[in-house]
Amino acid sequence: MTKQSRSGITPDDPNIVWHHHPVTRESREALHHHKGLVLWFTGLSGSGKSTVAGALEQVLHSRNVSSYLLDGDNIRHGLCRDLGFSDTDRKENIRRVGEVAKLMADAGLVVLTAFISPHKAERQMVRDMMGEGRFIEIFVDTPLTICEARDPKGLYKKARAGELKNFTGIDSVYEAPEHPEIHLNGQETLPALTSQLLDALEPYLKVSL
Ligand code: ADX
Repeated sequence: MTKQSRSGITPDDPNIVWHHHPVTRESREALHHHKGLVLWFTGLSGSGKSTVAGALEQVLHSRNVSSYLLDGDNIRHGLCRDLGFSDTDRKENIRRVGEVAKLMADAGLVVLTAFISPHKAERQMVRDMMGEGRFIEIFVDTPLTICEARDPKGLYKKARAGELKNFTGIDSVYEAPEHPEIHLNGQETLPALTSQLLDALEPYLKVSL
């Protein structure tokens, strides 16, 4: 039996028919002069995902790439404000973000996402949604000890004190990517990381950066 979605409509409901519109993804991509795709940053809280994604977006923007950054903390102020940090809620968080990112990439944008996205299964779910060559997984690999020493929001301290439950890396799992398209050492400098990303992304965007 097909699982019911939140709207109560099964995805394969025969009464819901996909409508094809005249302006296509290809025509929108031609307008933007690059492909639409998702740059999916994953890593522990404090690993540097948001900072690196923000720095990359700034350079892409200055080079006429149409982009949008979906940031975990920000999205949890709106679209996902009703969700917490249980495994079920994190899964729903990533499902929603995946769907939004897919629409934005279909609009021809380069979508940067910065979510812990701790489970392999959810990252794979978004990869499958996006299609070949449109999901670039970027692992910001920063050891827990370093993230905890940085503790920019004081959340690791709270988690260690037992004031914050289900905190990733402390009492909630983080499953590191095994074969990300791009593997960054989160302890390198921001300019070094940005430059590595720009080099790695050219073939995916099919433009010279
Ligand atoms: S995810 O696991 O569902 O992908 P997401 O990226 O949206 O997480 O949100 C992570 C941010 O929420 C962290 O950077 C941190 O600031 C905050 N946060 C609050 N509680 C937790 C928690 N229990 N585990 C991880 N992050 C938390």
